Amino acid sequence: MNILVLGSGGREHTFAYKISQSKRCSKLFVAPGNAGTAAIATNLPIGVNDFEGIKKVVIENSIEMVVVGPEDPLVNGIQDFFKADTQLQHVMLVGPSKSGALLEGSKERAKEFMMQHNIPTAAYQSFTSESLDAGKQFLETLNPPYVLKADGLAAGKGVLILKDLNEAKQELENMLTHAKFGAASTKVVIEEFLDGIELSVFVLTDGKNYKVLPTAKDYKRIGEGDTGLNTGGMGAVSPVPFADEVLMNKIEERIVKPTVNGLKVEEIDYKGFVFIGLIKVNNEPYVIEYNVRMGDPETEVVFPRITSDLVDLLEATAKQKLNEITLEIDERAATTVMVVSGGYPEAYEKGKEISGIEKVEDAIVFHAGTALKEGKVVSNGGRVLAVTSLDTDFRKAIKKSYQEIEKLSFDTMYYRTDIGFDL
Ligand code: AMP
Ligand code: GLY
Repeated sequence: MNILVLGSGGREHTFAYKISQSKRCSKLFVAPGNAGTAAIATNLPIGVNDFEGIKKVVIENSIEMVVVGPEDPLVNGIQDFFKADTQLQHVMLVGPSKSGALLEGSKERAKEFMMQHNIPTAAYQSFTSESLDAGKQFLETLNPPYVLKADGLAAGKGVLILKDLNEAKQELENMLTHAKFGAASTKVVIEEFLDGIELSVFVLTDGKNYKVLPTAKDYKRIGEGDTGLNTGGMGAVSPVPFADEVLMNKIEERIVKPTVNGLKVEEIDYKGFVFIGLIKVNNEPYVIEYNVRMGDPETEVVFPRITSDLVDLLEATAKQKLNEITLEIDERAATTVMVVSGGYPEAYEKGKEISGIEKVEDAIVFHAGTALKEGKVVSNGGRVLAVTSLDTDFRKAIKKSYQEIEKLSFDTMYYRTDIGFDL
C-alpha cells in the first residue's frame, strides 16, 4: 500500500525508515520531510496542518495509510477531518481524534481524565484569571517547590517549577493575567511536586486493545549533567534499566489498562500512540503527562528495537485488531545522541553543510533538522541529527554512538557527551 508520514523530524525519519523496510509498503511519502526522508521516500512540500493540501495528495497518490508524527495536527482535528470526508473515510489514519488529542492539548482535561479513572497522578487544582486569588491561596497550602502548568500547548515550555512562594504567586499572575504563554495559559494547573526519577512508557492502542512498546528515558536539558535550558531532547536510552518487571507490572495494571479502558468507556476514538510521562516515587509510578504521539528522540531508540513489521502493527491499530498481532522486540539496548546547532535552544544559524554522514557504519543517522541544498545536506533546525546505536547493553551502545559521531561535522555542531550518565 502507499503510505504517507506527516512531519519533518527525527521521529518521522525513524517512522519512514521502519516503514520502508516493510514489504507491505509500495510507495512511501513524507510531508514535509527532511534530507533523510528524501533518501528513502518522496517528500511532499505540504505543512502538517494544511488539511486540504494533505487531502489532495492522499487522493492523487492513492494513499491508504497516513501516520501522524506531531501533536499539532491531531489537536487540530486531522482524524475528525478524515472521518468526515467521503473521499478520505476509507484511509487508515494512525492518530487519535480531536477529543483524544485533548489529553495532550489540555493539562486540565488530562488531570480530570486521570481522576475519573483512578490513575495515580499528583494532586492538583486549576485556576483562571477570575480565580487568581484562590490560586495564590492554594499555593500557600502546598510545600515547595511549586509546579505551575499552562493548560494548553506551549511547545514544551509551559511548565514552571519554582522554589519560592512569592515567585510562584507572581508567575501564576504572569501566566493568568499577562498571558505569559499566550492563550495556552488562560488556565493554569497547579500541582503537588513529585520527587523521583522519570521514565516514559509508550503504548500503541486501537482504543480497545493495546501493546506496550519499549520504555525510554530522554535527556531534556542542553548541558552536561542535566543543566541549562530545556530542549526537545538531547538523547535517549531504551530500555530504561530501572524499569524492572515489578515496576512495569504496576505501570500496566494501574496506568496503561485504566487509560485504555477510560478511552473506551468515554467512547473516544483513539487509534494511535499514547506517550505516558511517568515519575517513580518510592517505587510507585505516577503520571506526569500524556502525549498523544511518539516522543522525539524517544522514537529513535524505541522503534529500532521493534522487530515486528511496523505496517502490520499500524494497520492492526487502524482496524482495531491489535489483539491479533504479536509484538516482537529486539532485546538489545538502543541509545541515541542528538547533534544540534550551536546556540540551540536559543537563536542558532541554519544552512551549515554537514559532512561525514556516509562514513557512519556502526550506527543509524536519523535526520531531525536537515534539508537538501544544491545536492548537499545542510542543517535546517536546532536539533539536526540523531545518532542511534544498538548493543547488548546501553553502555556499549552509547560508546558506539559517540565513536560514530566523531565522523560527523558541521560549523557550530554541539552534542552532550554524557547521555545515560545517571543510569
Ligand atoms: P510536562 O510538560 O508536564 O511533562 O512537565 C515538564 C517537566 O516538568 C517534566 O518532565 C518533569 O520533569 C517536571 N514536572 C512536571 N510535573 C511535575 C510534578 N508534579 N512534580 C515534579 N516534576 C514535575
Ligand atoms: N522528548 C520529549 C517529547 O517528545 O515530548
